[in-house]
This record gives sequence, C-alpha cells and structure tokens, in this order.
Amino acid sequence: MKFHVLTLFPEMIENAVHTSITGRAAKKGTISLDTVNIRDFSVNKHMRVDDYPYGGGAGMVMEPEPVYRAWESVAGGQGNEEKKPRCIYLTPQGKVLNQTLVEELAMEEELILLCGHYEGIDERVLEEVVTDYVSIGDYVLTGGELAACVLIDAVSRFVPGVLSNEESSQFESIQDNLLEYPHYTRPEVWRDRQVPEVLLKGDHKKIQAWRMKQSLERTRQRRPDLLEKNRPVTAAFFSPTGGTRKAAEIFTESLTQNPRYIDLTRRKLRKEKVKFSSGELLIAAAPVYGGQLPVTEESLFSNLQGESTPCVILAAYGNRHYDDTLAQMKKRLEKRGFICIGAAALVIPHIYSPVLGKDRPDEKDRQILRRFAVEIKKRLEEGIQEGFSSVSVPGNPDPEPKQMKPVEKSFDKEKCTNCQACAQKCPVNAISQETLEIREGKCLNCMSCVKVCKAGARGYDCSQVRQYLESNYSQPRKIELF
Ligand code: ADE
Repeated sequence: MKFHVLTLFPEMIENAVHTSITGRAAKKGTISLDTVNIRDFSVNKHMRVDDYPYGGGAGMVMEPEPVYRAWESVAGGQGNEEKKPRCIYLTPQGKVLNQTLVEELAMEEELILLCGHYEGIDERVLEEVVTDYVSIGDYVLTGGELAACVLIDAVSRFVPGVLSNEESSQFESIQDNLLEYPHYTRPEVWRDRQVPEVLLKGDHKKIQAWRMKQSLERTRQRRPDLLEKNRPVTAAFFSPTGGTRKAAEIFTESLTQNPRYIDLTRRKLRKEKVKFSSGELLIAAAPVYGGQLPVTEESLFSNLQGESTPCVILAAYGNRHYDDTLAQMKKRLEKRGFICIGAAALVIPHIYSPVLGKDRPDEKDRQILRRFAVEIKKRLEEGIQEGFSSVSVPGNPDPEPKQMKPVEKSFDKEKCTNCQACAQKCPVNAISQETLEIREGKCLNCMSCVKVCKAGARGYDCSQVRQYLESNYSQPRKIELF
C-alpha cells in the first residue's frame, strides 16, 4: 500500500508513520510513505500558499494552485488516462472514519491524503481532485495531519504482512461491533486484585465463553450504540458433497467472527422453522444442479422466515453455468420476508469431473469474496440509514423443472457393511433404509452416498457427462458478484 500525503508539515507525518508497527512495515516495504510538501509548489516568490478569504472573515485559505500542483505531481494531472488514486481530504466535514471504511480503503493500492490548514482549502481545487471527504471524529483539529496519521495507522493494519499473526488475531472483534474483552498479565495478584479464576485454568472453551460474555457486557456498558449495530450472521447452506459449504464458510467468516450455521443438507434441519429479525443477516448458499436449485421435498429455504431481513445469496456451480439459480433463490427468499442485498455466483469442484472447478475457491476467489464481504458491510451500513435495496440478478425465477439424465450408479453389496450412512445422510431420503436401494425418482444424483460410504461400496459412472462437460466448459469462470 502506497500512501502519498500532501501537507504543509511533512515531518509530522514522517515522524508518526516511521514509528512502531507502521515504521516496521515501511522499513519492510509492505507500506510506503511519500510526503509531498505543498509549499514546494507555491506560485509566489515568498513561498506563500495561503491568502485572505473572499467575502472577508477570520483566518486564511489555502490557495488552489499549489494544492493542485502537489496533487498533480502524484496523480499525473488531467492528461493521465490511467485510474487515478482515491484522494482523501481530511476534514471534520467528512464521513466519520469507521472500521468498514478502513477495510474498504485498505483494498486500494494507493491513496492520496490531503491535509488542510488554516481555515481550509479553496473549494475549487477540492472539487477538482478530492474523491472522499473523511473525518476522524466530531471535533476540530488544527490541521489534517494527525487525522492522516490515524487513517494511515488504521488502514495499514489491514495490509497483508503489516501485522504479525499474533498481532492480527487480536483485533478482529471490532468487525462484529463488539469491544475487546479485558486483558491480564503477571502477577496473578496485583495490589490485592486477583486475575479472574477462569483465565488461570487453561480450559479454552470456558475462556472463550467468558471473553465473549465480557465483550458483550463491556459493549453494553461503554458503547451501547455499537451493540445496536451488531448484526448476528447466519449461513444456511445445502451442500451434499461439501463444496457449497466451504464457499459459504469462506464468505461468512469474512463478515463475522461469530457465525451461526444451519446445514440444510440435513433433512431434519430443513423442517425446523427459523425466524430472523430485521437486525440479522442471512447468507443463503446452494449448489447449482443443471442450472437450477436442487429439488428437495421441503423446498430449500422454505423453513426460513425473515422480517425485512437482509440476505446475501450464493450459488455454487461446477464451472458450467448457474443459469436460473440466483433468480430462483432471490424470488424464493424475498417471498419469505428477506431482502436480497447481494448475490454471488462462484465456482466449486464439479461432482462429475475432477478437473472442472478443481481447487476452487482458490486464493484469488478468496480475495474476491473477502472484498465482497467489505462491500456487503458497506451496503448494510448504508441500508440502516436509507433502507435496503434489492439487487437484480440474471435468470428466470420460475424455470421449467429440468429433467436430468441420472448418472449410472453402482452398489457392491459384498463390500457394504450395512452401516446405513448412505441412507441416513442422503439429503432427500432417496435410499431405502431396509434394502439400501436407490429410489431413482427421488435421487438428486448429488453423490453424497458415494462420498459417505467408508467401505467404498458405492460408485458411479459419469464418464459420458464428464466428457461432454470437460470438452465444453473447461475454461475457468470468474466469480460474478451482484
Ligand atoms: N481536520 C480538522 N479536524 C479534523 C477532523 N476531526 N477529522 C479530520 N480532519 C480534520
């Protein structure tokens, strides 16, 4: 991450940033700092950069030309067709910096920070160069430099390689709008004050529960406003062979540290009604079967009831196409009280081919999903103020059900240990408990039975469909986001 700071006091920025963790990061080259002295671009022989305000009044105003030239020295001026870096003007009139904005800014490769002084900067140059107005809080500083240092520090923590593993695992909880639990170190008793008992015993489950309770308690006492913004996240997924589940987990865990999962692959859980308030978020994830949602007896997601609850839908497919799946999911969930504020179609390994979607989601996909999670946080914050809006997704929400040719399945009774795992785990109850025969009319061809059979008694032959898919759809497809 490259920070360019346009300022009249470069040493203020240099001193702060070249200290402690950001100093270490700058030395390592994971961040870089380029301070630009606006005075070097003065157009006045006395090197002045400010003048009296038109219309009178107290204080001086920074002239437009030196600011423009300083910016131009970094951004390349009007002729430059390349994408210009975001230029942030630090001002009490800006959007108040919070963790979501910090995360969003950390995704940029370069940022220009513009620091004002005196009464401010001539409005015309601000209109010309500034992309974002940011405040660090509702109070007035003598200039933007300290605010720029705060922003650089907060953003740098999200730049890969700036924090050590130990340092980075500590601060994540703010993303759930909860304050950190209290910390203790030696001695065990200090001036008659004892370290809480639970921390001395080494029972990690109990320690985790205690810390969570403390976080909640502390937030309730000190920052009840944050607690209102805390939004419980539930991911409900249907995943016979684990691909969709993995994709849902990657995305969900970029949004929250405390997710709740509902595994709709389990028939019992598809029957349990779950209600969601408007203060929650649902992630609904399903695999794509022949371009559509899998057909289950109790149709997928029909046990979930929202109350103007925002939701994000994920359709996971094996690199052919998702066709109508997102449209079906959106319609189904919006009928049940959810508002679809985001959607993604992503690639997972195909069940009928070892090459299609191999190792997806890969590192690049993960990065895209992490970025999308930041975008969703932004939509959630904006939604609180302006109301949630539903995204458009391609496809037919009511497609004709597709008749798919079942793949050839084999069952070796000699190998079968009669453990019943296949029948119990079949997501659509298509295997008879008594005979272990497959009822073809019900079978989804999801291959869960093959996957769960430890004895290797079940197999399938999908060579025909595999050949067709591999010869037509082997070009890796990108994640699509809505
Ligand atoms: N400049 C002066 N006050 C400021 C504030 N609160 N945030 C950002 N920049 C500022």
